[in-house]
Amino acid sequence: MKIIVPATSANIGPGFDSVGVALSKYLIIDVLEASDTWFVDHDLGDDIPNDENNLLLSVALKVKSDLTPHRLKMVSDIPLARGLGSSSSVIVAGIELANQLGQLELSDEDKLTIATEIEGHPDNVAPAIFGNLVVSSYVDQTVNSIVADFPESSFIAFIPNYELKTSDSRGVLPSELSYKEAVAASSIANVAIAALFSGDLEKAGQAIEGDLFHERYRQQLVKEFARIKAIGQENNAYATYLSGAGPTVMVLAPKSVENDIKSAIDALDLDGETFLLEVDKEGVQVVD
Ligand code: HSE
Repeated sequence: MKIIVPATSANIGPGFDSVGVALSKYLIIDVLEASDTWFVDHDLGDDIPNDENNLLLSVALKVKSDLTPHRLKMVSDIPLARGLGSSSSVIVAGIELANQLGQLELSDEDKLTIATEIEGHPDNVAPAIFGNLVVSSYVDQTVNSIVADFPESSFIAFIPNYELKTSDSRGVLPSELSYKEAVAASSIANVAIAALFSGDLEKAGQAIEGDLFHERYRQQLVKEFARIKAIGQENNAYATYLSGAGPTVMVLAPKSVENDIKSAIDALDLDGETFLLEVDKEGVQVVD
């Protein structure tokens, strides 16, 4: 059995801690034979444990503590700490592992509630579970989500070679916004979502770039952001935004200009790599 979980890009401008989209990079967990002890085989670096301390297993055993140990192989092309939901994908995989080995028959809503409690916000875990674009709220321990198709768009992702920890990126945010600022920020988010749902990517793009919740505080942490945004604007992109907590910079653009934008970013010779990604419409999958 294999458990496959997509990468995710959260926030999409003003949808801070609420909005995310599943994208075509993947974590794959191969569930091998039962064993006396748990072992996670991977080549993700020495910092990632092979035993029950691995996030995948700690989540699975939190969901069901008496699962039969297995050998597992973990492969991922979702880079760590880059704003593409790598830890959320592991959390969702861990819940699915417990669901499958423990025959728990969890619904997607059950998985979402468990994942959001662990992660603290639903914006990455929800699209990792459902696929597509997901808009969620998480208030008083209750999650509500709406899943929708993302309008036809290219996702051009510049992934820097350095990591940015979410905790550090959250550390530069203010603890409060004034009532007036909160109303303005939420009205921009409303327009962004309404425009995405009605397929108006031009209008959505303006609202995405109008974010008042987080990007203005975080831009200083991602030195490539301004130059890539300028390339987007020169090439008729819909919008450029910081993916999740960064440092990945995402450009949304018509398909017709995706190669021009990728080439222009590559020509900057920045320390990182540019990928053309697709929306994943499946979310977490279990295959035999
Ligand atoms: N919404 C989160 C943030 C995503 O921007 O901090 C990363 O966990």
